Amino acid sequence: MVSSESLVRKTEKTFRLLKSVEADKPLGAQIVGCNPDVMGEAASMVEDLGFDLIDINIGCPVPKITGPGGGSALLREPKTAAEVIRKVVKSVKNIPVTVKMRKGYADPSGDEAVNIAKIAEDVGASAVTVHGRTREQGYSGIADWEAIGKVKRAIKIPVFGNGDVNNGEDAQRLIDISGCDGVMIGRGALGNPWIYKSIENTLNKKANPAYSPSTEEQREAALKHLKLEIEYEGEKIGVLKCRRMICWYFKEQAGIAKFRAKINKATTFNEVEDLILNFG
Ligand SMILES: Cc1cc2nc3c(=O)[nH]c(=O)nc-3n(C[C@H](O)[C@H](O)[C@H](O)COP(=O)(O)O)c2cc1C
Repeated sequence: MVSSESLVRKTEKTFRLLKSVEADKPLGAQIVGCNPDVMGEAASMVEDLGFDLIDINIGCPVPKITGPGGGSALLREPKTAAEVIRKVVKSVKNIPVTVKMRKGYADPSGDEAVNIAKIAEDVGASAVTVHGRTREQGYSGIADWEAIGKVKRAIKIPVFGNGDVNNGEDAQRLIDISGCDGVMIGRGALGNPWIYKSIENTLNKKANPAYSPSTEEQREAALKHLKLEIEYEGEKIGVLKCRRMICWYFKEQAGIAKFRAKINKATTFNEVEDLILNFG
């Protein structure tokens, strides 16, 4: 997610967030904001940078974003949301525009998402994603998959369901309950890049469905993550940024609390590498 305002001001930090490598393709960028002209200009810039899809954020709960009227604040401003989506759709030449929204701002019924989804369809969006929580819920409580079904039944463009999908069984239940066309994974992917394969296996009823990595694989992936982060950010910042992410790889395992306490004191590559190699 990048701020449309920061992007059109061409701030270096924003361009850094949009950096990618060829292996990332196909790749979408998400933009946030509430000024239709600025959002349109940002969308055009994102397309020129080579992205394959633009997603409009109508879900972010953070006050810095909602205060000026962006993110989930747009759920309660359908007229502005319509102008924003319309302008973004008009501003891109060849790539699809999608919208990601929460089910509502405070209203738990899902009606706000239905309304925004209909608008998105009317003004030319290619698909929508619905996170089954309200802005008020933040990331707590259980995601409401019925509300995703309400949106699915109200529009013809594809609907992606999102919220609380942590394995293949969750994904199948979300699809069964809501009828959604696709599933978006959130926190379940943190420290678990294997989740996609595992879910795909379950949905396709392949053998060995619930793939779970060995501790050795987790160590290897965490170490690779650390090395790439340091290559990108340098050792000092790379280690600081990586502490939290490295812990995600081992979040389900006994000993994680001790590991976290130690990693939070580590400042060098060698220290973190040592902790990773000796975990478990
Ligand atoms: C650390 C973090 C960062 C997130 N960043 C974004 C974001 O930039 N754009 C967005 O649309 N959603 C963002 N989300 C929300 C997730 O995409 C997802 O909607 C939410 O976590 C619910 O799914 P889950 O229950 O599977 O985690 C973020 C969530 C987390 C935990």
